[in-house]
Amino acid sequence: SPYLTTNFIGKNYIHKLTIDSTNNFAKEIASKVPDGTVIIAEEQSAGRGRLGRSWLSQKGCGIWMSVILKPNIQPQEAINLTQVAAISVVKAIEELSHVENKIKWPNDIIVNNKKVCGILTEMSSEIDKINYVVIGIGVNVNCYNFPEELKGKATSLNLETNSKVDRKKLTASILNNLEFYYNTYLQKGFEYIRPICIAKSITIGREIKVIYNEGEMEGKAVTIDSNGSLIVETKEGKRLSIMSGDVSVRGL
Ligand code: BTN
Repeated sequence: SPYLTTNFIGKNYIHKLTIDSTNNFAKEIASKVPDGTVIIAEEQSAGRGRLGRSWLSQKGCGIWMSVILKPNIQPQEAINLTQVAAISVVKAIEELSHVENKIKWPNDIIVNNKKVCGILTEMSSEIDKINYVVIGIGVNVNCYNFPEELKGKATSLNLETNSKVDRKKLTASILNNLEFYYNTYLQKGFEYIRPICIAKSITIGREIKVIYNEGEMEGKAVTIDSNGSLIVETKEGKRLSIMSGDVSVRGL
């Protein structure tokens, strides 16, 4: 693509018409392909979301892609890569769709209170070393027909802006931004990414409910800390830091 200006992300690029899930395929080939390899499909027959959910990926209407990265960081830092990817998508949507969009921590992109993009980060690691990370990005770009159960929750960029967005340009912009913020993160650390994550967060300042392994809790999202964890304050004034989990924001 002439729009791609990266040095390594997307230089090796695999395009599929149909596939079960680009994340599945990426995991199969990850150890044999170069850092920055990107897999894109026109359609996924078994697109996956977080927490075992499925991800609707109809033909030609969205960006269904996975990026393989091999960062030299600790496995517990991989959560930051989801946030690096999220701000990259936000910047790309701002650039090409000119619509305000924000991050529902840690991995959903929201336009007009509905979800346009989800990110599924999966990793293979050893005790203190990452073998590879697969960042799966699904963006509803020019989609029209959402099933009944998704209406009100999911949307597509064209529906919110009344104009079609060029999927190739948006894909390239996501990857250009991703390479920039990924390099920034690796060279300078999460502190350089954190202000953008905070500025673009729809979660901070809101009442939220978090469902995680050990149970669930309610509170107000206060900030994102220097590790990328979400800081939540309960009614009793207790502060908790959450690394991952299913967050629902009241009113969203
Ligand atoms: C979520 O919101 O729960 C995450 C959705 C991630 C969807 C993308 S589409 C490309 C990649 N392949 C998959 O099977 N899932 C991710």
